[in-house]
Amino acid sequence: MPDNHDGQGDVQDGKNFYLDVPQICSVFPLKGSNALDWGMKNRLARVFSPQDGRTVMLAVDHGYFQGPTTGLERIDVIITPLVTFADALMITRGALRSSIPPEMAKPVVLRASGGQSILKELSHERIAVDIEDAVRLNASALAVQVYIGGVHEHESIGNLADMVNAGNRHGIPTMAVTGVGKELARDAKYLGLATRICAELGAHFVKTYYCEANFARVAAGCPVPLVIAGGKKLPEPAALEMAWRAVNEGAAGVDMGRNIFQCEAPLAMIQAVRAVVHGDETPGKAHDLYLSLKSMQERGQYA
Ligand code: 5RP
Repeated sequence: MPDNHDGQGDVQDGKNFYLDVPQICSVFPLKGSNALDWGMKNRLARVFSPQDGRTVMLAVDHGYFQGPTTGLERIDVIITPLVTFADALMITRGALRSSIPPEMAKPVVLRASGGQSILKELSHERIAVDIEDAVRLNASALAVQVYIGGVHEHESIGNLADMVNAGNRHGIPTMAVTGVGKELARDAKYLGLATRICAELGAHFVKTYYCEANFARVAAGCPVPLVIAGGKKLPEPAALEMAWRAVNEGAAGVDMGRNIFQCEAPLAMIQAVRAVVHGDETPGKAHDLYLSLKSMQERGQYA
């Protein structure tokens, strides 16, 4: 019952139509998402907390082009315990089916593009998952890499457009992932270009990199939520600082991989990242939390 109603209403024949209460019409709080259909919004609300519009996604999809990445040698052993502290899991269908228990209740952001390896041109991707298989896996979102300025820029933008079209038919949002070639600068000009193109092509949210200068302009210029990748492993204080700066400059959270699972204490690190993203904790306090959880873990005080 709405808060502003006295509960009496106009009861006749045991029915109450709350004649004095206008139909409730809520505004969907996630940036750029209010015009989407119910299923899209419902899936997005699984990935992004409806309380603060933010997310801590755990990215473990690296094997799709890197093989057994350090820290992901055994997804069943290393990643499953971390899932409790993530809002969503970004993963390939192969790793999901083989290594993650289906009882896991967290939303899946399914890596849906691939087709290359670290031995070849990285932008040479195609869509690698049928939409029917994504539905079968109960995916809450799809993830497609886009290589703006890359050798296969055109095909990768086509992959994004095709995935958005397929996802739209089923109410599944698509996250564009901005892959940045080694020869390109990860600065605000490039990231602003790449993220905006992804949003204009219909991506429902975009994964990109943080940049020291003018990230706020990148976030403001992208009309849908941005999440940042962690990138290469940094010392923990630096990774927490980057997450803090990103959310304070307009990101809707993180989709972090190596800076969590390559830590000495991944369970402690994901909780420290959560404290920054959802608790507005400062990087210094979040690092203290990391150290204290790490030492509890070392003393066997929690698993
Ligand atoms: C490629 C990817 C990665 O597979 C991964 O998700 C990146 O995460 P992180 O940089 O935090 O390890 O998206 O671009």
